[in-house]
Amino acid sequence: MRETQTYDVAILGGGPGGYTAAFRAADLGLSVCLVDMRERLGGVCLNEGCIPSKTLLHGTSLIETDVKAAEYGINFKKPEIDVSVLRTKKESVILQLTEGLDKLAKARKITRLIGKGFFKDRSTLLVETTDNTIEIEFKDAIIATGSSPFILPGLPVDPRIWDSSDALSLNNIPDKLLIIGGGVIGMEMAQVYSALGSKIIIVEMLDHIIPPADKDLIQPLVRKLKKKYQILTRTKVIEIKATDAGILATFEGIKDSKTEQFDAVLVAVGRRPNVTGMGFENLDLMFTEQGFISTTENMQTSVPNFYAVGDVVGEPMLAHKASHEAKVAAENIAGQNVKFQPKAIPSVAYTDPEVAWVGLTEKEAKNSKIPYSKGKFPWGASGRALSTDSATGVTKVLFEKKGGVIIGAGICGAHAGELIHEAALAIEKKATAEDISRTVHAHPTLAETFAFAAEIVDGSITDALPQRKK
Ligand code: NAI
Repeated sequence: MRETQTYDVAILGGGPGGYTAAFRAADLGLSVCLVDMRERLGGVCLNEGCIPSKTLLHGTSLIETDVKAAEYGINFKKPEIDVSVLRTKKESVILQLTEGLDKLAKARKITRLIGKGFFKDRSTLLVETTDNTIEIEFKDAIIATGSSPFILPGLPVDPRIWDSSDALSLNNIPDKLLIIGGGVIGMEMAQVYSALGSKIIIVEMLDHIIPPADKDLIQPLVRKLKKKYQILTRTKVIEIKATDAGILATFEGIKDSKTEQFDAVLVAVGRRPNVTGMGFENLDLMFTEQGFISTTENMQTSVPNFYAVGDVVGEPMLAHKASHEAKVAAENIAGQNVKFQPKAIPSVAYTDPEVAWVGLTEKEAKNSKIPYSKGKFPWGASGRALSTDSATGVTKVLFEKKGGVIIGAGICGAHAGELIHEAALAIEKKATAEDISRTVHAHPTLAETFAFAAEIVDGSITDALPQRKK
């Protein structure tokens, strides 16, 4: 006989969306069953995404220490790289975090099932574990099934053609690596493999890398990367052939096309929501044109006792969006009336230098015909940036022309991913250029550059040339 278990909430997917929803629901007094195929909680983010990539990026950044230190009169020997130790370090970070999540789940008395979940109907989830199939009966369900790498049509199946998980496994350092897609994954992995000795070529179909960010913002990164690898923008890969000698890729740019041979190819052209093979057809869910599950701002789907959060409900596919949506879903199930209505969600590319942006970019403001004032502060005028070898950075802040409230900010430079959160808070709290200018920032810090950019708009800047009266 099949085992049946009953819960207030069944959650499918144990990534940042799923586990956050489970923890919040349990804290609000609900009985929770959390289902994931992986043994470890954390989904893609912890197991083969954000966390391993940040560990590898930090590890490989240390390789450049000798070059950076030489400018300060400190000389190291050329570093020796042991890739297996780097891989072990990455695994140990993942393990520490996933074991931590296990403890947090246990402390909340959440039932965890490891197996493939399939919705039989609107109140039953079947979970196929290694030993048997368990029938979960629930009042409410949360779908947090995430996303998978988009696979370009017509690609041969070959171990030398990678997705991001293959790249993060660090099983092989190719001499020559082609990266298709100059988005966040492409640029972060380029940095890791370039540091480990691969020759990198990046092919991006749009006119600049990291296309969601403003083109002028990313220039400090582009200038640095151009010296290290070849970046072909407005270029598409039109054919990939696997041969014994290597992978042959044919690119087509605006002017010409050419074929080159590579030892490996990383395909990083975006992700698509995981919506098949889980019985969603038995529920009558509504989907968006792009194939995401439609939800209200309460994170409720078209089926009243079904909520959905994270990558499966839409862009931006970011862990921090998922975890915030997850809390909203759990709180609504627990009887609260909460909406997911952030004014802005920060994005970060953990490149060197980092790129971070939040709220409206300048091109979005222009496209939406929103009148704005811009403060742009080059880090070459920042004492802290100059003293820490980060003078190429830039901070750009946009304010509504009328009313002067901040609407967006972008930073390219060291620690941009940390610095951006002051802008995120300013946007949530509708701060004006004057509010930011009058907020005392410690000197010398990189954070000052955000205040300086606001002072440019406010007209009170003294750390730059006087602004011309408009
Ligand atoms: P992405 O959407 O960021 O970038 C994909 C890039 O590939 C785009 O620039 C696109 O123009 C280009 N592209 C698409 N088709 C192409 C083709 N045929 N030839 C050449 N270029 C092509 O997607 P990515 O980098 O795969 O990342 C997937 C998701 O994961 C994103 O939603 C991202 O936000 C998230 N992520 C976030 C990270 C972070 O927050 N640091 C790190 C890694 C991933």
